[in-house]
Formats: sequence, C-alpha cells, structure tokens
Amino acid sequence: MTISPPAAQSESESKVSALLSRLEEQFTEAGVDSPELDAQLILAVVLGCDRAHLHAHPEKAVPHEAIERVEALAQRRTAREPMAYILGEREFWSMPFLVSPDVLIPRPESELLVERAVALSGYGGESRILDLCAGSGAVGLAVASELPQAQVTLLDLCPKALGAAKRNAEKFGLVSRTRLVVSDLFDALAVGEEFDLIASNPPYVASRELDGLMPEVSSFEPRLALDGGADGMDLIRRIIEKAPACLARGGYLLIEMDPRQMDEAEAVSEEQGSYHSARRHKDLAGRERVLELERA
Ligand SMILES: C[S@@+](CC[C@H](N)C(=O)[O-])C[C@H]1O[C@@H](n2cnc3c(N)ncnc32)[C@H](O)[C@@H]1O
Repeated sequence: MTISPPAAQSESESKVSALLSRLEEQFTEAGVDSPELDAQLILAVVLGCDRAHLHAHPEKAVPHEAIERVEALAQRRTAREPMAYILGEREFWSMPFLVSPDVLIPRPESELLVERAVALSGYGGESRILDLCAGSGAVGLAVASELPQAQVTLLDLCPKALGAAKRNAEKFGLVSRTRLVVSDLFDALAVGEEFDLIASNPPYVASRELDGLMPEVSSFEPRLALDGGADGMDLIRRIIEKAPACLARGGYLLIEMDPRQMDEAEAVSEEQGSYHSARRHKDLAGRERVLELERA
C-alpha cells in the first residue's frame, strides 16, 4: 500500500494575507467575537513580529514550521480557549501580566480597584495593602507599582494562582515589597495583623449563571475564581463581615462586585456596624462596580 504525502501547501496559502483570511474564517465559524484581531495576534506571536508588520508585508511567505505552530494555536482558539491563555499574557494597568489557566484573566473593570486604592493611599504613604483573592496578583502588583513605599500582601486560596502572582512580582521587580499568603480569606493571617487598605475582586458569579457565560469563561477560567455561591455573594458577605478585624481605623475596604449585588452588600456592611461610610464607584461602562467602605 502506498501512502501519499500530505498535500503540499500551495504558494498562495502560505502568504501572510491568505493565512490570515483562512484563520479569520475559521474563527468566525467557531463564534469567536474578534476573529480578525485574534488571527493577527496568533500569526504575529509565531513570527515574532507586531501586527503592523503583517499589514506591511501581506505577500510575505510564511515558513512551513511557522504554519504548523500557527495552526496548533488556532485550533485552541477555535475551541474557544481565551487569547490570554494562548498567548500567556494579558495587559492590565498597562502592565503585561503573565497568566495561566490557574488564574482569572484580569479584566479592565478591575482597574477601578487600583485607581481607588492609589487615590486613598496617597503616593509616598507607607501603606500596608492586602489584595484579597489576588489570583495573578494584577490588582495588588499594579497598586505596588504606583506606590513605591507600599507593602503588599497577595492572598489566595489557590497555591497555583499564587505561583502565577509570584512570577508576576518577579517580572515587575516587586518581590521585595510583596508577600504571598495561601489562605481561605483571612484565616491564615496572624491575629491582630492590620492593613490600611484591603482591595478584593472575589468570585461573585451566581452558581446557576456560570454555565450561561461565554465558553471562553465557563469552559476555561477556574471555577474557584468565578463561583460566588447561590446568589454570587458568599465571599462578599464573608469579606464585609470579617474585614474590620484586620483593617486599621480609618482604613478602607474596596470590593468589586456585580452591580446587582451593591444594595445587598451595602446592607451587610450596615448590619456589620464597623464601617462609617459607604461609597459606590462606577466602571467605564457606567455600572456600579466597586463598593468602598471606610472602617470607623
Ligand atoms: C475573580 S478572581 C480575582 C483574581 C484577581 N484579583 C483579578 O482581579 O484578576 C478571584 C480569586 O479568588 C480566589 N479565591 C476563591 N475563593 C477564595 C477564598 N475562600 N479565599 C481566598 N481566595 C479565594 C480564586 O482562587 C481567584 O484567584
């Protein structure tokens, strides 16, 4: 029996423009929401160039080995794996964070936590900051990059997530001002330990809503990073109830949440009784996203 060799790649198929069109079509059929951009990002990363280079050289031939690598990555995207996991990186607060499937991909709306943390701490202040539910460390490390005197504790229940946070602290030269703690919320902190500010982006999706999220989220991001229990508020409630024990007087708790959870979260804070003010902050889409509570 003779086995025929695989059909040779035709010359036009191996050109940048043809390869991009083919990937774009493949991604569109798979329901990817930015097929053109993702095709370009994949080809650019394999060729080690930027997207502008692809635009400038549409007729350039792509070497066979590069095409194989492009196709392997494109297959992952076609299965709806997020681009950030495929590329291993996501920009947050203009910092290129390393991300792995052990961590939530940092979202632009969480930059509001950073903005408020920096505004409340003041440049030059020797703030003790806790990034509670730190994941990749995006929030805490972005704050540390803005506040040169701040000491930041990155805390997460998942040791592998903190592995990613550690690699990011190294990448951004912030190891000396960063501490990593594996803990179920505040449990592993020393009794009496205090922070000037706690910023948290906890899991806050209601369990029943998880499967209805886009496949990039529901099939690839860690459930531990998303699932907030029956109404999405399990961790938010625990955080608001327990945070005063380790917040300095006049310190702040910032929590990101779904806008639909704001009223309930504020009611929990009133019942808790240790906060003397509550403010709501809107994200860039104009939705209430961060609750700011001041410790009395
Ligand atoms: C929504 S992600 C936020 C990650 C990161 N702060 C960000 O904004 O990109 C929530 C994180 O909370 C962690 N987590 C879940 N339950 C926890 C718990 N009980 N105690 C501490 N961390 C927890 C998850 O491992 C995950 O890394």
